[in-house]
Amino acid sequence: MRRGLTAYGDEEFSLFLRKAFIKAMGYSDDALERPIVGITNTYSGFNACHRTVPELIEAVNRGVMLAGGLPVEFPTITLHESFAHPTSMYLRNLMSIDAEEMIRAQPVDAVVLIGGCDKTVPALLMGAASANIPAIMLVTGPMLTGDHHGERLGACTDCRRFWARFRAGEIDEREINAVNAKLAPSAGTCMVMGTASTMALCTEALGMMLPGGACIPAVMSERMRHAEASGARAVALAKERLTPDRIMTPDAFENALRVLLSIGGSTNAIVHLTAIAGRLGIGIDLDGFDRMGRETPVLVDLKPTGCHYMEDLDKAGGLTTILREMRPLLKSTALTVTGKTIGENIAEAPVGWKQDVVRPLSNPIFKEGGIAVLRGNLAPGGAIIKQSAASRELMRHTGRAVVFESLEDLAKRVDDPKLDVNADDVLVLKNAGPKGAPGMPEAGYIPIPKKLAKRGVKDMMRISDARMSGTAFGSIVLHVTPETAVGGALALVGNGDRIRLDVPARRLELLVPEAELEKRRKAWKPARPRKEDARGYRKLFLESVTQADRGCDFDFLATRSTIRIPKA
Ligand code: FES
Repeated sequence: MRRGLTAYGDEEFSLFLRKAFIKAMGYSDDALERPIVGITNTYSGFNACHRTVPELIEAVNRGVMLAGGLPVEFPTITLHESFAHPTSMYLRNLMSIDAEEMIRAQPVDAVVLIGGCDKTVPALLMGAASANIPAIMLVTGPMLTGDHHGERLGACTDCRRFWARFRAGEIDEREINAVNAKLAPSAGTCMVMGTASTMALCTEALGMMLPGGACIPAVMSERMRHAEASGARAVALAKERLTPDRIMTPDAFENALRVLLSIGGSTNAIVHLTAIAGRLGIGIDLDGFDRMGRETPVLVDLKPTGCHYMEDLDKAGGLTTILREMRPLLKSTALTVTGKTIGENIAEAPVGWKQDVVRPLSNPIFKEGGIAVLRGNLAPGGAIIKQSAASRELMRHTGRAVVFESLEDLAKRVDDPKLDVNADDVLVLKNAGPKGAPGMPEAGYIPIPKKLAKRGVKDMMRISDARMSGTAFGSIVLHVTPETAVGGALALVGNGDRIRLDVPARRLELLVPEAELEKRRKAWKPARPRKEDARGYRKLFLESVTQADRGCDFDFLATRSTIRIPKA
């Protein structure tokens, strides 16, 4: 109760007043003497991914009380991918500030962070890392799969697949509406290897979640038992003073990055892990990450790159099955919220069984990691491609640029029958980066122009400074840094320029003579600020957001990096 007293200039009076008010909640002196475990309530009527948060809180409460603590829930903002304008990424840092400041402002000895939907897990971890009070993550868990005419469906890989079929005229309005009702059939997070699943698995690998927690479906009773165990463990964390900085160490981040590569995870996770690590003064070196990728194969056979779903991975043993295979590549001595190392957790887990979701290290799905880092004159600060989700024949490709100046321009012209575009062209989207959009929306999955889609074109090389949903797939270059809005090389691309992608060589080049580029650089002017840019959160965002290679965190929230990983 003495933690973070309200400032009245008289500490004993502050404590006296605090006790008077908390007693109005009906607590006894005995209850108030227990370790207090805060629980973030991220429920919202707009967030179906968090529909089960009330029952999870009930289970966490039970776990805390059985372990002798006092649970106290408190609200934070919540974010759902489809209910966050202009994009949830724009609000991730706001949620992290909310989490950090509320954890710090209230007298909690430990906190259970309940997240799930894409941006909530990184936001809560960023906040917890900065507040540095004992914390444990509990995710809401993945949805179960849906079904359409006997075909298994998953959000949102199949959302995109069916929408592409609708755009191509392969299915009619009646069928697309029927599919719409089946894509998200239960509470929980998207059940493919999207950002929510990726971040859940990376968080467990980071050591911030009890073993097994990433994959248990949201609606299973096991999820409730896991929540109860998380509550109980939070009381122990409070007593042990096991703070996030002791768990989220450089070794732990290396383990999380390895897992990201081996699961063929969402490209968004590299931005989020960079932001979380940045709060702890740990910098993630993209070239080091790429080197790590060359020796970390993809083992997990999940959509969008494979064929299974999260509930199948849960039945296959969840993250532990992956970690067991990856053990030679892991930093086994990294501490976790269990109070034991990740190596000890693996050793104590039940032995594996025959399954076909996680491949052995000796027989991977893809011999390199899912994500490759590109450099070149078009992306001097780096760009990302999810090579495990790209078409083999486009991994080395040179094509003519078809440029869209903004999201609005894309929406207006992409389906214009008069658009001059061929299947071997390169679609380029500008001004969709952290500052440009703003918020770096998941617009990198540029739709195949309708006239090409109708001719059966399924994939094209696409480039932008935007992000892409982890549930999407295609030959898509993302996170081009620096972005268009700050005068990055993407700003200089013109219609008809030739662009060369060479994933094996990790190169992305704009094939325009340097003298011509210099001329364009001199002529380039930043976009005129809009009226709404001058006030409120948007002003703060535009002034403070960093580029993708620094996690798109606010510059004043990150801690100056004193260590860079992965080490060579
Ligand atoms: Fe919430 Fe996909 S929309 S996890």
